[in-house]
Amino acid sequence: MQQQGNIQVALIEDDTIVRHATSQWLQLAGYQVLEFADGLSALRGIPIDFPGVVISDIRLPDIDGMQLLPQLLERKHDLPVILITGHGDVDMAVHALQDGAFDFFEKPFDPDRLIEAIASAVEKRQLQDSANEREQYLQQVQGLEKTLIGRCPAMVALREQLVKIAAFDTNVIIYGATGCGKELVAHSLHQVSTRSKKAFVPINCAAIPESLFESELFGHESGAFTGAIRQRIGKFEYADQGTLFFDEIESMPANMQVKVLRTLQENTIERIGGNKQIHIALRVVAAAKEELLDLPQFRQDLFYRLNVAQLYLPPLNERGDDVLLLFSHYTQQIKKDCRKISPSEQNILLNYPWPGNVRELKNVATRFSLDKTLSVGDILSRGPNQNSSQPQTKHSQLSLAIQLQSYERKVLHETLSFYNGSIIDAMDALDLPRRTLNQKMVRYGLSRADYTNP
Ligand SMILES: Nc1ncnc2c1ncn2[C@@H]1O[C@H](COP(=O)(O)OP(=O)(O)OP(=O)(O)O)[C@@H](O)[C@H]1O
Ligand SMILES: [Mg+2]
Repeated sequence: MQQQGNIQVALIEDDTIVRHATSQWLQLAGYQVLEFADGLSALRGIPIDFPGVVISDIRLPDIDGMQLLPQLLERKHDLPVILITGHGDVDMAVHALQDGAFDFFEKPFDPDRLIEAIASAVEKRQLQDSANEREQYLQQVQGLEKTLIGRCPAMVALREQLVKIAAFDTNVIIYGATGCGKELVAHSLHQVSTRSKKAFVPINCAAIPESLFESELFGHESGAFTGAIRQRIGKFEYADQGTLFFDEIESMPANMQVKVLRTLQENTIERIGGNKQIHIALRVVAAAKEELLDLPQFRQDLFYRLNVAQLYLPPLNERGDDVLLLFSHYTQQIKKDCRKISPSEQNILLNYPWPGNVRELKNVATRFSLDKTLSVGDILSRGPNQNSSQPQTKHSQLSLAIQLQSYERKVLHETLSFYNGSIIDAMDALDLPRRTLNQKMVRYGLSRADYTNP
C-alpha cells in the first residue's frame, strides 16, 4: 500500500465502531485522520484552508452529509468530499455527485477501494493546486505590469523574480540608483506577499537623527527618558506580521546595525524603558544605492542576514524604449488627451542620460502635460530640478545654444498662435521656406492642429 506521508483525511461518522475501524485502516495506509462524530463539530473542526480529503457518512445525528457538502464546498470549491451512504441512499448520492462530491461508497464498502478513491482525490487536488499556483503566479506578474512599468528584458525578469521571491518569506535587498523605483518595488513585494493585509512600514535610515533612531524602531514606555511623555509604539512593532522597509540602509548608524541584527536573530524586542519581551514576525526589505558588502561601515553579519534574496533595478538610461512607455503613461495619467510628442522629442527623451531616473522622467512628463507651450527640449534644457513656474532668469545660466533654441521656439509658438496655425502666413512673417518651418516645428514639438480654431 502506498504511504501517504502527511496527507490529512477528515472522517465524519457517528457510528463509533465504524469510525474507529475506518480510521485505523486509513492510518495504516499512512494518512493522518481527524475524526468527527457529527456534522457541526466537523464544520467547526475542519479548517477553512483544509489541505486534505473529507469522508462523510450521509446520515448523521445533526445535519446530514447532503447539507454538509455545500457548506464545505462553499469554503473551498475544490475540496474533495467522499460520501458514504447507507443502503437505499444511492439516489441521494447520485445527486451529491452532481452537487460536487468527489465520489460515494455504499455500505458495506471495500476499504481498499476507499483508499484508492482517496489517493485519486489527493492526486487530483495536487494537480489542481499546482495549476492554481501557476495561475496565481501569472496573474500576479500580469498585475504588476500596470504599476511596475517596463517592457525591457530586465524589467520583465524583475517582475517575475519579484513574485517568486514574495512567495518565500525571506529578507530582500533591492539595489538601484536614485529614483529607479526601489520603494515601488519594495511595496509591490509586500502587496503580492501573504503579508499584504498587514502593514508596510517604511523607514528612511538617512532621514532619522541618530539620537532618535532607537526609539523610532523600538518605541518606548512613558518616562523612559526625558521627553518620553507617552508610551510610543516603534516601527518594529508596527511592522509585526507585515513588511519593514529600511530605505537607504547604508546610512544606518553602526550601533543600530548591532541592535537591528539582534532583533532579527531573536524575533523579539523590548521597548526602551520597558522589560517585556514582545515577539515580532518580520520580513525585512532593504534598499541600497551601493553594494553593501563594499561598504566598510556596514556590518557583514547584518548584510548576510538581509542578503537572502536580491533585486537589481537598472538605471533608466539602460531601459531603452521604456523611457517612451513611462513618459506616455505619466502624461496620460495627468491628462487623458495629452498631446503626442514628435519623433524628434522622442529622440531627445531616448538620448537624455536621466540622472534622476524614473522620478526625473515623471517630473518632466508632468510639466509637459500641464504646460502646452513647453516642448520636451525646453523642459530638459531647464535642468532637472527647475519647474516651469520658476522665473525665466535661470536661462542666463544655460548655454547660448539652449537659450537660442528656447527663444526660437517661443517666436514660432507666438507666430503660429497669431496666425491661428496658418503655415503660409507664418512662412511670410518669419521669412522662412516651408521645409525649414516644418523641420523646426517638428524639432520643437509644435503641431499646426494646436493653433487652428475649431
Ligand atoms: N517601473 C516603474 N513604473 C512606474 N513608475 C515607476 C517605476 N519606477 C519608479 N516609478 C515611480 O518613480 C518614482 C520614484 O520611485 P521610487 O521612489 O520607488 O524610487 P527610489 O529608487 O526609491 O528612489 P530614491 O533612491 O530616491 O529613494 C515614484 O513615483 C515611482 O512610483
Ligand atoms: Mg526611495
